[in-house]
Amino acid sequence: PRRYVVTGAASGMGSAVAESLRTQGHTVIGVDQRDADIIADLATPDGRRDAIAAILALCDGVLDGAVLAAGVGPKAGAERAIVEVNTFGVTELLAGLRDALAASNKAKVVVFGSNSTTSTPFVPKSAVRKLMKGDAASAATIIRRRGKVLSGPVAYAASKLAVTQWCRVHGTDLDWAGAGIRLNVIAPGPVMTPLLQAQLEGASGKNVRAFPVPLREYGTPEQLAAWVMLMLSSDADFMSGSVVTVDGGTEAYLRSRDW
Ligand code: NAI
Repeated sequence: PRRYVVTGAASGMGSAVAESLRTQGHTVIGVDQRDADIIADLATPDGRRDAIAAILALCDGVLDGAVLAAGVGPKAGAERAIVEVNTFGVTELLAGLRDALAASNKAKVVVFGSNSTTSTPFVPKSAVRKLMKGDAASAATIIRRRGKVLSGPVAYAASKLAVTQWCRVHGTDLDWAGAGIRLNVIAPGPVMTPLLQAQLEGASGKNVRAFPVPLREYGTPEQLAAWVMLMLSSDADFMSGSVVTVDGGTEAYLRSRDW
C-alpha cells in the first residue's frame, strides 16, 4: 500500500479519487473544509500552513503521491477565494510537501486544472503573472476590473492558468522532476459535481449550458477519477509536466478553428 494525500476529498472528483485509492488498499489522507481526516481552510496562508504540518505528521514524512482537487468554482464576487484555493491551495501546499514526495520512489502528483484555461476569453495576462509571483490581492484587483459578469469566470481561468504553469515549470525542473517527482495536470471539462450544479443553477447557468460539448453530455466524477488513477500508477512513470484534457471534446472543438 502507498500513502496519498487528496485535497477536496469531501466532494466530487476528490472524493471519487479518494474512494478509488482506498478500494485499492492505499492509505489516503483526505484534506477538506469538512468531512475529512484533516479539516483545513486552503483559502488562507495559516490554513495551508496548518494543513501541511498535519499532513506531514500523519504520513511520517513520506508521501507516494498527492492529488490536489480542492477548488472553488467561477462564482461572481468570489475572486479572492478562487485564486487563493485554486492556485495557492495547490502551489503552497505542494511546496510544503515536496521533501516528503521526494522521499518516495517516483512519487506522482496530479493537480486539477481545467479546460477553462483555453476556452475562457478576456483573461488578463497581468493577473496570471501576479498569481505566479504569489500576489493574490493584486491579481484579484485586476480581475475585478473585468466587471461583475466576467470576473468570476476570469478569476477561475486565471487561477487555473497559473497553477497549470506552475506544474509545467516544476514538472520539468531539477528540484521536482530531477528528484523523481512526476507532476502532471488533469484538465476536465464540465463534470457533474456540486461545483457544476451550482454553476448551472446560478445567474450564469444559461452560459454554462451554452458551452459547446461535442459529446453532448457531462462527465462523471468516476470517469475523471479513473484518469487520475492512471496518472498515479506506474504506467505514468514517463510523464511529467503534462496536461491531460478530458472534456467531452470542448477544447479540441474550439482549437479545431485555430488553423
Ligand atoms: P466540488 O465542489 O465537488 O469539490 C471541491 C471540494 O473542494 C469541496 O469538498 C470543497 O469543500 C473543497 N474546498 C473548496 N474550498 C476549500 C477550502 N478553502 N479549503 C479546503 N477545501 C476546500 O468540486 P469538483 O467539481 O469535484 O472539483 C474538483 C476540482 O476540479 C476543482 O479544482 C475544480 O476547479 C476542478 N474542475 C471541475 C470541473 C467541473 O465541471 N466540476 C471542471 C474543471 C475543473
